Amino acid sequence: MQETLVLIKPDAVKRQLSGEILSRYERKGLVIKALKLLQVPRELAEEHYAEHKEKPFFGELVDFITSGPVLAFVLAGDNAIVSVRALNGATNPVDAAPGSIRGDYALTMDANVVHASDSPEAAAREIHLWFPEYK
Ligand code: TYD
Ligand code: MG
Repeated sequence: MQETLVLIKPDAVKRQLSGEILSRYERKGLVIKALKLLQVPRELAEEHYAEHKEKPFFGELVDFITSGPVLAFVLAGDNAIVSVRALNGATNPVDAAPGSIRGDYALTMDANVVHASDSPEAAAREIHLWFPEYK
């Protein structure tokens, strides 16, 4: 049993895709353990994306994730981390397979609909960051 941190990003919340996306994870068999809709403080966004601090796209990434409400949740299940990343599809929607979330709902990398933890270490860090009250 594994847990992972997922975000439905502002573009998808605005497009009212939250229910559609959540249901894909649930149909896969993943269980929602915690969930909240929030306006992301800039400080939280910068901490969440700390690994990208030196990248040229960091500023725009933080601007985007703070541009509107985000739906944040913890999903649990066997192999949850890899399974959610597979459901999400490739980071660049141009490369994301049709049938994946990014493949079906996104056109460009600057509004690619979802985030998910990419390793057990990242999942532990991100769950603690977004849900300090959880567990
Ligand atoms: P990354 O952690 O590499 O991708 P993922 O979200 O699949 O874990 O990058 C974080 C986000 O940064 C990504 O979802 C979209 C954005 N991004 C860009 O805008 N330009 C880029 O060149 C990359 C690599 C990412
Ligand atoms: Mg990442």
